[in-house]
Amino acid sequence: MATLTNPTGAPHATVLGVGAYRPRRIVPNAEVVDAIDSSDEWIQQRSGIKTRRWAEPDETVQMMSVEASRIALERAGLDAQQIDCVVVATVSHLLQTPAVAAAIAHELGTEQAAAFDISAACSGFCHGIAMASDFVRAGSARHVLVIGVERLTDILDLTDRGTAFIFADGAGAAVVGPSDTPGIGPVVWGSDGEQFDLIRQREDWRDVVGNPETPGSGVMPHLTMQGNPVFRWASFSMAKIGQQALDRAGVSLDELDVFVPHQANMRIIDAMARAMKLPERVRIARDVADQGNSSAASVPLALERMIAEGEARSGDTALLIAFGAGLSYAAQVVVVP
Ligand code: UT7
Repeated sequence: MATLTNPTGAPHATVLGVGAYRPRRIVPNAEVVDAIDSSDEWIQQRSGIKTRRWAEPDETVQMMSVEASRIALERAGLDAQQIDCVVVATVSHLLQTPAVAAAIAHELGTEQAAAFDISAACSGFCHGIAMASDFVRAGSARHVLVIGVERLTDILDLTDRGTAFIFADGAGAAVVGPSDTPGIGPVVWGSDGEQFDLIRQREDWRDVVGNPETPGSGVMPHLTMQGNPVFRWASFSMAKIGQQALDRAGVSLDELDVFVPHQANMRIIDAMARAMKLPERVRIARDVADQGNSSAASVPLALERMIAEGEARSGDTALLIAFGAGLSYAAQVVVVP
């Protein structure tokens, strides 16, 4: 029997650069309230959202991803040819196949990088960072581009009171590469399929198209969410996951500088910070107020903003945590590039 070679990669992996693309259009609560019989006051009180970014027709999943990636590459000091794997986390690329990652890798000018999409909803970016870190350390890739991107407005029912005011569009990207010291801690991730139906595409494509016996709805299958059970699950369970990610990375609360939770709802962010007993000193991402909840894009958008505004500084220790449909979740500690 042949003995296969078993190459290994870099001793450690780290985030080398982060980039973002926010759609141009800023949509205040006043623009969404009439269709859902709501008010600016209710939305701000329940979610902390004042405005959200919604993409215009030219701001496609591919276009936003390429823009965010170019910035991440430049900040990492790398050319696209040095990227050998592109991982795109999204649930709103509307072509079922092929993966949008291949088109993005091509438009960026990679040398035929491995490219694929992952579907883990709001937690997809943190899943991607975990995979990228493992790829770099195992030798499967030297530099991995991880993108979280959504154009959720394509799958939003703007008359649905439970989702229309909360979700948004955008793209964030991070380059992961080799390092002499650990820059990405072990992931803590999981899923609770018992709650599969809490956030989901309303119906599958066959129900839209129909068959000879049953006519299809002919209506775009929108995103639905039972917000309150998700809210309770996230507020009570995710703090433990965040603490586990800190423990697995060997980082104490006193050593934590930055907290970048999924930007789902300001009340969830506050509840998690309280439950984790984060010291006052820890700077907390609060991008949801102006950006809304952009699912897979929310963590990289929030992190990029903190870096751009000087709230997260190079060398800082940051806890990333994201959660959503599945229900799925992932968390890890990273060193800010
Ligand atoms: O990103 C993926 C993960 N997603 C999340 O983490 C989102 C989690 N969920 C949430 O953020 C919150 O559940 C929402 C912000 C979506 C809703 O806040 P809530 O505090 O859970 O509100 P609720 O659904 O329990 O509704 C409270 C009340 C109800 O009225 P009654 O029964 O108390 O009279 C609703 O009928 O508010 C009413 N309501 C609304 N009122 C005005 C529900 N939706 C609206 C609305 N505008 N849009």
